[in-house]
Amino acid sequence: MSRITPLVAGNWKMNGMREQAAEIGKLAESLEKDPVDGVDVMICPPATLVMPFAELMKDNRIEIGGQDCHPLVSGAHTGDISAEMLADSGATAIIVGHSERRADHGETDALISEKAQATWRAGLVAIICVGETNGQRSYGLTLDVVRRQLKNAVPDGATAQNTIIAYEPVWAIGTGLTPTVEDVKKVHDDIRSVLVERFGSENGGGMRLLYGGSVKASNAAELMSVENVDGALVGGASLKADDFLGIINSYKS
Ligand code: PGA
Repeated sequence: MSRITPLVAGNWKMNGMREQAAEIGKLAESLEKDPVDGVDVMICPPATLVMPFAELMKDNRIEIGGQDCHPLVSGAHTGDISAEMLADSGATAIIVGHSERRADHGETDALISEKAQATWRAGLVAIICVGETNGQRSYGLTLDVVRRQLKNAVPDGATAQNTIIAYEPVWAIGTGLTPTVEDVKKVHDDIRSVLVERFGSENGGGMRLLYGGSVKASNAAELMSVENVDGALVGGASLKADDFLGIINSYKS
């Protein structure tokens, strides 16, 4: 068995009102009644819900994360949120470089690297996303793209404790499509070897590598059993406690 504790993280994206606290409450209650050992669980709600969710979950094992941050601590940046503010609200991690941020806001690997460093500066864990588009995949560029993103978006100083990598093929996000387990294995093995080479066996070998893109209860067990897949980053199927539990339960022994 892998010495890495897997993580199942839910990315709620721009979904969720205060009343959705009922879903996270239900999730926490179910996990308390019927615990799934050996797996960490996190929900990354929109920024408006980070504080209430963190307060609700403070005596609980579900961690709360942010979905993005500004590289700076504070200043004249209307509409932005700093890593320190998310930490102050109770977040323990921040997703940076999600493909929707890259596409909607033109985020570059260099900016993502700054955001990852901001996350560390605030004492939080950076969940750094990488992944190829459908076009890049069809040209056989998947490994090249992912290696380039790892090189440029993951800052020096990444450790097994402060960084999690999420491989999310852009074409698999929200589409119901997933790569074959062979393809997932190929990419995750490659990411692992790149990380070990750059950060050493302790840090590069111990960093969690999540798979994301259309993970659901029905495919989670298969995807999560792939070597070097240390959990999932889940979008749509994290919004309902029952669906998300189905994914977490794939770690039941
Ligand atoms: P999805 O999204 O599970 O809805 O495909 C995953 C993600 O974007 O993190």
